[in-house]
Amino acid sequence: MVENVSIIGLGKLGASMVAGMSSRGLNVIGVDINQQTVDAVNAGKAPVQETNLGEMIAENKERIRATLSTDEAVMESDISFVIVPTPSDERGAFSLQYASYAFKSLGQALKKKDGYHVIVLTSTVLPGATRHGLLPILEKESGKKCGKDFGLCYNPEFIALGSVIRDFLNPDFYLLGEFDERSGNLLEQVHNQVSQNEAPVKRMSLENAELAKVAVNSYVTMKISYANMLADFCEHMPGGDVDVVSDALGMDKRIGRKYLTGGFGFGGPCFPRDNVALNFMGGAMGVDTRLLEINDNYNRNLSKKYVEKLEGHLAKGASVAVLGLAYKPLSHVIEESPGVYLCKALSGAGYRVIGHDNLAAPHAEVALKSLALVTDRLQEALTDADAVIVTTTDKTYTSLTADQILGDRSKLTVVDFWRCMSHLESDPRIDYVPVGLCRDEEKASVSLEELWGS
Ligand SMILES: NC(=O)c1ccc[n+]([C@@H]2O[C@H](COP(=O)([O-])OP(=O)(O)OC[C@H]3O[C@@H](n4cnc5c(N)ncnc54)[C@H](O)[C@@H]3O)[C@@H](O)[C@H]2O)c1
Repeated sequence: MVENVSIIGLGKLGASMVAGMSSRGLNVIGVDINQQTVDAVNAGKAPVQETNLGEMIAENKERIRATLSTDEAVMESDISFVIVPTPSDERGAFSLQYASYAFKSLGQALKKKDGYHVIVLTSTVLPGATRHGLLPILEKESGKKCGKDFGLCYNPEFIALGSVIRDFLNPDFYLLGEFDERSGNLLEQVHNQVSQNEAPVKRMSLENAELAKVAVNSYVTMKISYANMLADFCEHMPGGDVDVVSDALGMDKRIGRKYLTGGFGFGGPCFPRDNVALNFMGGAMGVDTRLLEINDNYNRNLSKKYVEKLEGHLAKGASVAVLGLAYKPLSHVIEESPGVYLCKALSGAGYRVIGHDNLAAPHAEVALKSLALVTDRLQEALTDADAVIVTTTDKTYTSLTADQILGDRSKLTVVDFWRCMSHLESDPRIDYVPVGLCRDEEKASVSLEELWGS
């Protein structure tokens, strides 16, 4: 049984791992370079915003301690998980800047420790980074040998913001890259103690695990783009309905239904950057990754495409309300958000743009500067709009009635990316534009007739 673990980096993922591991009976020592973060955790509070994080840290307070000292953490635990940022660098790769600094402190701590200790990198990195970028720092600083004096693993998590703790405790599978068997054995033991769903463990080399992590995310983005392409097909086919087509695809066990709901593009802190990073890696290794490049370009081009489509419905200079600026509902995160990109594209095409988001408005205001007015008051966004575009499935938007959207106006265009507002369709005052459904049967029929008629 492992009793004591340490977590280096108490951000969105690290703090949630502290909560999750302590809730399963482990004593957890958290380390961060930020004093406020350390103070928050020691006070039994969440250092970042995440579902149930504050409650779980408070409930398990007696098993949690935070410190600025990596030495203390290494001395008082058997295994240390490193979850520091690996931001994208100018090449599109993941920078090891923060991880190198953390590994330097860990190496210095290992030097002072008698006895075996395992270091586990959880931050997302590219193939070769753990062995060739970080391990040499540990060996240099500690003066010790990996595999003999200490162990090393790469163990990324597959979590979504908003459900990080649940996802961490109930993974689909446990991806375990190991320097050697002994390191992997200890990490697997921790997993067995922590996992709530007895998820299967896939053990492999460090490099295979590094590739598998980014490949999972990159593959999912491919499904999303594929579904968006199908949505486009359906708009050009009589009776076309992307949900009907996606449901059929989803019945095939080789494909599955998840991430096939065509609508808008992918965004957020992981999907786009993992795709770009894998593409960089391909270039560096001489692997043909044009598939990834096309996918990324296709996704980035979606906003422009939808602005062009809108041109048939809207006069130049019209006011457009974009509802949903975070990359998904009920989030404050706007990194690579399709809603923000759409605001930029609309502004670039000469429209007056008002963006709304309950949680993400302050971040979006900074990102959009003078390109759009941003508000967290829905009524303010709707008041002067000539068109309303709903980018997420947030119930605040999808439950709006025709009267609520129209206010004093007699006519309005509503674009619904996720087909959640079909109650608006029958209202003659609303030009309802659901993405992924055919709206001009006649035109669609004519084009197919021209193609196939004799
Ligand atoms: N957030 C996600 O959705 C998610 C999902 C999967 C993987 N990841 C990966 O996890 C890693 C961390 O992501 P995050 O979102 O938790 O980052 P974050 O920015 O929220 O948190 C990182 C924390 O690390 C701390 N830190 C930095 N350097 C440190 C050091 N030397 N010692 C101790 N603490 C240090 C920071 O102060 C911060 O509190 C990244 O590699 C990311 O790609 C994140």
